[in-house]
Amino acid sequence: MAITEPDTQELPSRSVMDESIRLITDNATRIMTWEYDRERDQLVTLYNKAMSSQWNSVTDLDWAIDVDPERLVNEQPSPVMQLVRAASEIPNSPIASWGEKEHTEAGIEFLKASMSQFMHGEQGAMMTAAKIVETVPWIDAKYYASTQTMDEARHTEVFAKYLHEKLGDAYPMSPNLDAQIMALLEDSRWDIAYLGMQIVIESLALAAFGDMLRRTNEPLLRKLLRYVMADEARHVAFGILSLSEYYENLSSAELKERQEFMLENTIRQRGRSTTPEVWDHLNVSLEEVLPFLHQASAEIGMHPTAQFQRGFFAKLVPNTRRLGLLDANDGYLRKAWGEAGLMEYEFADDTATDYNSYDAVAADRAAR
Ligand SMILES: [Fe+2]
Ligand SMILES: [Fe+2]
Repeated sequence: MAITEPDTQELPSRSVMDESIRLITDNATRIMTWEYDRERDQLVTLYNKAMSSQWNSVTDLDWAIDVDPERLVNEQPSPVMQLVRAASEIPNSPIASWGEKEHTEAGIEFLKASMSQFMHGEQGAMMTAAKIVETVPWIDAKYYASTQTMDEARHTEVFAKYLHEKLGDAYPMSPNLDAQIMALLEDSRWDIAYLGMQIVIESLALAAFGDMLRRTNEPLLRKLLRYVMADEARHVAFGILSLSEYYENLSSAELKERQEFMLENTIRQRGRSTTPEVWDHLNVSLEEVLPFLHQASAEIGMHPTAQFQRGFFAKLVPNTRRLGLLDANDGYLRKAWGEAGLMEYEFADDTATDYNSYDAVAADRAAR
């Protein structure tokens, strides 16, 4: 039997560690409970489902599949790539000289950038789920959040592995996602981590993964996304089932804070997401290329994130309705979202109702 040598490498020096870690102070109070009775039937059902639909990142995914990044991005160009192509056709554009080689290279960089944000976001989700284990007062929710912590570990791991083995180097966490997740991890109110992660970011993740799934035929990525989405839908359902109970008993002033939080994290966020790091990598100045991207967007009548935004709000709005946050304080959130044209999604399927339809893990097992 082979014996693995212990790792004799020295620990990284303090300065290297400082660059590779981040210190975060959580201001929420941890809670232990002596109330072990299982009182929340829907959370019990969800927890049992989480246990039976666990999957294994090593044996359920075929990592031997050969992935050709060039083919991956040219098969079905993403909306952002269509826009970049249109911008390159405008005279005097800084990317007017681009040929197929440059477009393909850019496509791969944009894909790596998306995957990198997925990976960092998943680590944020793992830490938020762990925070929920510690801060939520109900035993059924602690149990559930523990399964979610494992799910998010697996998600972080598979995105990191796909990047590392199939695509190349990861990009750093974007400042926007960083600010959003750090705020949740630091907040003293336990339900804000829930609201921000389980409702906002998880709905966002479902839309983003669904968007990528529609555009890819690559079998490893497809299965990875289907399995991750099966878990994410359960996570959103967990948020809805827990918070709808908690919010029934909050005061108007407390609910107003939550409504403000939703506004801050949704429509006020829109338009903040550019990708300067990708343009940097391609040696193109974002400042110079941006006007051409805007012009191209107007000319071809396409906004690169429009489809994704629709998918996001089609999940988020009905999920928020289930929490009672649309109508509290004389419909404060309903009015603000209505002005932004989002209320058309009010009665779309909410994720507490349709999470089972995402369960590709159970479906694959039943088919075998
Ligand atoms: Fe996840
Ligand atoms: Fe999740």
